[in-house]
Amino acid sequence: MLSLDARAHALSQRIPDGFILGTATSSWQIEGDSTGRGSSIWDDFAAVAGNIKDGTTADPACDHVNRLDTDLELLGWLGVDAYRFSFSWPRIFRTGEGELNQSGLDFYDRLIDGLLERGIKPAATMYHWDLPSTFGDQGGWTWAPIVDRFGDYAEALANRYADRVDSWATLNEPWVSACLGYATTIHAPGAGDPARGFEAAYRLLHAHGRAVDVLRSHNAPNVGTVLNLTTIIDDDGKSDYGRQIIDGLQNRIFLDPLAGRGIPIDIIEATAGITDWSFVTDEGLTEIARPIDWLGINYYTPARIAQSTASDKGFIVGQNTDVYPGSPLVEFVPREPRTEMGWEIHAESLTTTLVDTAERLPGVPLFITENGGAFPDDEHVDGRVNDLDRVDYIESHINAALDARDRGVDLRGYFAWSLMDNIEWAEGLLKRFGIVHVDPETQVRTPKSSAYFLRAVIAAR
Ligand code: FCB
Repeated sequence: MLSLDARAHALSQRIPDGFILGTATSSWQIEGDSTGRGSSIWDDFAAVAGNIKDGTTADPACDHVNRLDTDLELLGWLGVDAYRFSFSWPRIFRTGEGELNQSGLDFYDRLIDGLLERGIKPAATMYHWDLPSTFGDQGGWTWAPIVDRFGDYAEALANRYADRVDSWATLNEPWVSACLGYATTIHAPGAGDPARGFEAAYRLLHAHGRAVDVLRSHNAPNVGTVLNLTTIIDDDGKSDYGRQIIDGLQNRIFLDPLAGRGIPIDIIEATAGITDWSFVTDEGLTEIARPIDWLGINYYTPARIAQSTASDKGFIVGQNTDVYPGSPLVEFVPREPRTEMGWEIHAESLTTTLVDTAERLPGVPLFITENGGAFPDDEHVDGRVNDLDRVDYIESHINAALDARDRGVDLRGYFAWSLMDNIEWAEGLLKRFGIVHVDPETQVRTPKSSAYFLRAVIAAR
C-alpha cells in the first residue's frame, strides 16, 4: 500500500499550473459570536426544538470570530491557494439593512487582510443561507422586495471589500434554500410549501442577477455563483421521465435561466399543479442571465433513482421526492459505499456532472467549490483522527474532477468541504466534514490525516 505522502505526490503530478486548491466554510456553521450580529432565520429555526437533531445553536460553533488568528495560521499551514468563506448578512447589517454593524465589518477586514498577508486568495460568498430574521419575518425569499435588499447588501459589501476579495459568489446552493427551506421543512425557514419553493428559487436567482450588476459597477473581480449540481442515474432503466424531471428540478431549473434559456418548459409543465410561475417576469429573466465569470459546483453524491418500490432505503439526507415537487414518485437507491449522510460515494458522477454542466453553460469556467464527506472519524493515530475514508474520498474526487478537465472541461479549481468540523445544519454537530478536527468542548483544532494529505498535495505540485 502506498503511503499518504506517495499518494499525495502522485496526485499532485496531475494538478495543472494555476489550478486553485482551497478549503471552504460558511458563516453560520463556524462563526459563533451571535451577539456580535443580528439574528438570522437559522437562529430562529435552531431555537425550535426538534429542528436541529442534537439541539445545536449558533454558539459557539467553531468560535471562529474569536479564534480568527488560529484559523488563519491553520490555513497558512495547509498552504491553500484560496479560502472560500461567506459573509453573514446580519453581521454586516444587524437587521439586514440600514446602519452598518461596524464590528462585523472589522471582522471581515481582519479575515480578508489576514488571508492576503499569507498569500491566500479570499473567495467570498455573499449568501450561505443566514438570511436576516427581519426579512424572514416578511416572507424571506418569497417577499418580492428581497431582490432590492440583496442589491443594497451587495453595494455595502462591494464598497468595503471589492478591492481585496479575489472572487465573489452571490449565492450558495439556491436549490437547498428553496427546496429544503421553502418546499419542505428540513432547513430554515421550514416553510413546507412547494409553491413557495419555486418562487424562492426564482427570487434567489433574481437577487443573484441584481448582485452581479452591483458588483460589476464596483469593478469587483471574478463574479459568479455556486450551485449544487449532480448527475441523476436511472438505475433500473425504467425511470427515464423521473430522471429527466429530477435533473430539471436539480440542475436545469438554475442553469437554463443563467444561460438565458428561461425556466425549462418541461419543469413548468411538471409543476403546473403546484404553481403557475406568475412571479416570473421578462425583466427578471434578463437580469438573471447576466454573464458571469465562473460557476461553482458543490458536488457530494449522485442521485440514483429507480421505480418506486416503497421499500426502506435507510437514512439519506435530502433525497426523497418531497424535495423535488412535481417529480413522479421514484425511489432513491444509493449504492454502497455511502458516507454518514447516507450519500453514495461515486466519483465518476462528479466527472459527468462537470461535463454536462460545461455543455449547458458554455464558455463559463467551472470550479468545484465544495466536495467532501462525513465519516465516523473514530480511528486515531498519534493523537490525530486517521480519516483514511476521507482521504480516499478527496483523492478520488480530485482525480475525477481532473478527468473532466482531460475531457475538455474548463475546470479551474477545487475546494474541500470543509476546513474544519462545524455545524452541519439540521444534523447539528453529529456529522463531521472537517479535514481539521474541532473539539466541541475545548475548541482545540487538530488536523486530521486528510489535512496532511491535502497539504502534501499542495506542497508537492
Ligand atoms: C452543502 C452546504 C455546506 C455543507 C455541505 C455538507 O450543501 O453548502 O454548507 O453543509 O453541504
